[in-house]
Amino acid sequence: MKAAELLAKIRVNGTVPRHIAIIMDGNGRWARERNLPRPLGHRSGMKSVRDVVEGSLEAGVDVLSLFAFSQENWQRPPAEVRALMALLQEFIARESEDLRAQGVRVRVLGDLSRLAPGAASAAEQLVARTAENSRLTLNLFISYGGRAELVRAARWIARDVRDGRLDPDAVDEEALSSRLYTSDCPDPDLLIRTSGEQRISNFLLWQSAYAELYMSPVLWPDFSRSDLFEAITAYQHRDRRFGRVPA
Ligand code: FPP
Repeated sequence: MKAAELLAKIRVNGTVPRHIAIIMDGNGRWARERNLPRPLGHRSGMKSVRDVVEGSLEAGVDVLSLFAFSQENWQRPPAEVRALMALLQEFIARESEDLRAQGVRVRVLGDLSRLAPGAASAAEQLVARTAENSRLTLNLFISYGGRAELVRAARWIARDVRDGRLDPDAVDEEALSSRLYTSDCPDPDLLIRTSGEQRISNFLLWQSAYAELYMSPVLWPDFSRSDLFEAITAYQHRDRRFGRVPA
């Protein structure tokens, strides 16, 4: 079905996920299938990022979280890491103005101390440039791991307890979630992974507790807004009970 028809169907169905998180996977396989070097798969994946951002704006999603580079990805061959960092900078240079004009607020989340200075300052500028926007929040997770994020929150809580700012008995779910990168976002309603893998791979571990999972066989560079709309349509047919019984 075409994107416009799927979008019309989404509007008729009603509830759109407020927050969609995506594990963008399959760039390497996409390149291998074409006998291309892996970085060209990532480059092609950048086009899917643009299309999915536009699809999210059209569908009326509030928050889109993309897993662009995991902490484990630092262990890839140095040339691939360099290519990914260069692509990130290119994405920022190329898309910054459109994202600002389209009302997208961009945030770059993760252990940014490991980024090359050029990439880190480009990211900072994009975040500052779009900070006043409110149509769509685009969270780009870079150098991110879900367990590391929880360790960071636990250390923060421990320091606050030690320094008398927090009573140990006041440590509850809210105390923890308010110390995550996503503290001002609703939890993801829908978590999409492309390329047919059936794993969460350390992405938004705490926040995805009740996310609906949608595994798409499509490799990320081939993933378009139509695929996003299909995932939203599938979500609209899910029965979300959050551990309760139906009303
Ligand atoms: C996983 O595919 C994808 C990544 C590690 C990088 C994702 C990056 C992009 C989509 C491009 C840049 C994005 C932004 C936001 C600028 P893989 O390499 O693990 O694929 P494989 O499993 O087929 O090898």
